[in-house]
Amino acid sequence: MLWLSLLTAASALRVVVATPIAKFGDFAVKHAWAESPQGWELHSDAPADHILSLRIGLKQSRIEELKAHLLEVSDPFHSRYGQHLSKEEVEDFVKPRPESVELVESWLIAHGIDPESAITRSPAGDWLNLRVPVSLVEKMLDTKYNVFRHRESENLVVRTMSYSLPRELHDHVQVITPTTMFGGLRGMKKTSFLNPKPAPESLIEGTPFAGQAGQAVPTSCNNAVTTSCLQALYGTTNYVPTATANNSIGIAGYLEEFANAADLQTFLKKFRPAAAGATFPVVEINGGLNTQSDPGVEANLDIQTTVGLTFPTPNTYFSTGGSPPFIADSNTPTDTNEPYDQWVAFILAQTHIPGVISTSYGDDEQTVPLDFAESVCNSFAQVGARGTSLLFSSGDDGVGAGNCLTNDGTNKKLFQPNFPASCPFVTTVGGTTKVNPEVAVSFSGGGFSRVFAQPSYQASAVKTFLTALGKTNAGLFNTTGRAYPDVAAQGNNFQIVVGGSIESVGGTSASCPTVSSVIALLNDFRLSNGKSTLGFLNPLLYANPSALNDITSGSNPGCGTNGFTARAGWDPVTGLGSPNFPKLQTVALAAP
Ligand SMILES: *[C@@H]1O[C@H](CO)[C@@H](O)[C@H](O)[C@H]1NC(C)=O
Ligand SMILES: *[C@@H]1O[C@H](CO)[C@@H](O)[C@H](O)[C@H]1NC(C)=O
Repeated sequence: MLWLSLLTAASALRVVVATPIAKFGDFAVKHAWAESPQGWELHSDAPADHILSLRIGLKQSRIEELKAHLLEVSDPFHSRYGQHLSKEEVEDFVKPRPESVELVESWLIAHGIDPESAITRSPAGDWLNLRVPVSLVEKMLDTKYNVFRHRESENLVVRTMSYSLPRELHDHVQVITPTTMFGGLRGMKKTSFLNPKPAPESLIEGTPFAGQAGQAVPTSCNNAVTTSCLQALYGTTNYVPTATANNSIGIAGYLEEFANAADLQTFLKKFRPAAAGATFPVVEINGGLNTQSDPGVEANLDIQTTVGLTFPTPNTYFSTGGSPPFIADSNTPTDTNEPYDQWVAFILAQTHIPGVISTSYGDDEQTVPLDFAESVCNSFAQVGARGTSLLFSSGDDGVGAGNCLTNDGTNKKLFQPNFPASCPFVTTVGGTTKVNPEVAVSFSGGGFSRVFAQPSYQASAVKTFLTALGKTNAGLFNTTGRAYPDVAAQGNNFQIVVGGSIESVGGTSASCPTVSSVIALLNDFRLSNGKSTLGFLNPLLYANPSALNDITSGSNPGCGTNGFTARAGWDPVTGLGSPNFPKLQTVALAAP
């Protein structure tokens, strides 16, 4: 017995010896920044014994097949429309090749890391999680970590300006975090519209006019947007959800934005009395909290909008932690990974995912490393393949905030697209304002990705726009990139309750939960007619532009230009337009 155990130990040791570290000594850069990401400055050296929660994303064996499949089951003209995949079926597409696992494990062993005991894996095996001190990660990735400080928030993170991988691993590793992703994530809420003096209550009525969906819209909705304004404008007033046992909507929250339960009650009593008493569970992810004493404007805007519009459909709030302040003088292990990455990993590990999820957060696309952006966007494609619609705000800076200079060292002025808005596997929501007529709101984020190619589902709509645009803004944007937004909705003067009192807020943060709610009601309608949830929406929407209210005036200035102008058909200010629920019901019922 004694000999046997000694023998086992010896053979384990031999494995380590058999993979000399020299084998992995030829490094090639995986990702590098030309300059410190905007808003961040070098603070100090990273403590050598600071523990990083390293996440290694392996190349997913059949991710291109999965994307092709997703486009088919989302195409209303395809015979397999609506045939969503199970958790296990998606995992089969994204599991890494055995040789990738083997090679990466031997690299870890060469660094003294035991793949059996030191690693946890995602259900598909495509993500390896391990906790490693900075000193060791610096050797593994041939890099130097530092503490960086965010000038505005004073948050500290441990990151690197570049990282490398042994040459033989490049074909097997998609991304490693935390490395060069700094996480400039922000809520798509215009705080400048926070108005301590709410619209007088007399405003929240007025003489109604006939809205685009055939329901009477109070003229007060021009200045004060309430649940009943949105219901009337988009035509959901008379719809009563019935598939509430199988249907639900989720709201993703980050940055310690907490949705307040008492504020929701105050809001519902005032603006949606029939829904008074409605509650929502909070799912805490990656150390996310639910601090009821600290109501967030963004979180309250999101949950009050969705509960108000979708009641009695179940609503779930996801509170995701991540990128917490790193205490520079402490070596306490701190989780410093990226919020989207953590959130989507959690979602994909669930057996049941809400049919639609609204997210009102984003970054400038150029601040997100390409390998990271691709990885997150691929994960969103997986969520879509499970039958969930992911909606994101398009951003609140028109075609770009500030001077719009590139960060690749060339300092060129270019329009600045947002991510995840620019991921082709999400539905991106721009903003409108006023109701008679509904026009583009000037901050509505819109534009063209500089990293993601234009998907075929939007090619014809975008081409028509570009032809009409001519030479305007030529050279400032990428005509072959994924174009957004896809749709739009009211994005200003929302009357919400924060800390017990009514506030008036705006932002595409308001537009996104509005459209998400309409989609949740459409899912209810499909489910109650024995059909599947809609899943990834864009191919269906672009194939049925007349089911949206085309917005044809207004523009989204930015970068010192007039931006783009809304016009008939798709445009990069309001997309295809705002939802028309009765028309969308017809489309949803006609689809297989
Ligand atoms: C929910 O789905 C299950 C299985 O698909 C079905 O049997 C049941 O009738 C549905 N319930 C409702 C209320 O739609
Ligand atoms: C335009 O987008 C494509 C993806 O379609 C990308 O490969 C290319 O680098 C982008 N060009 C510019 C100038 O941003």
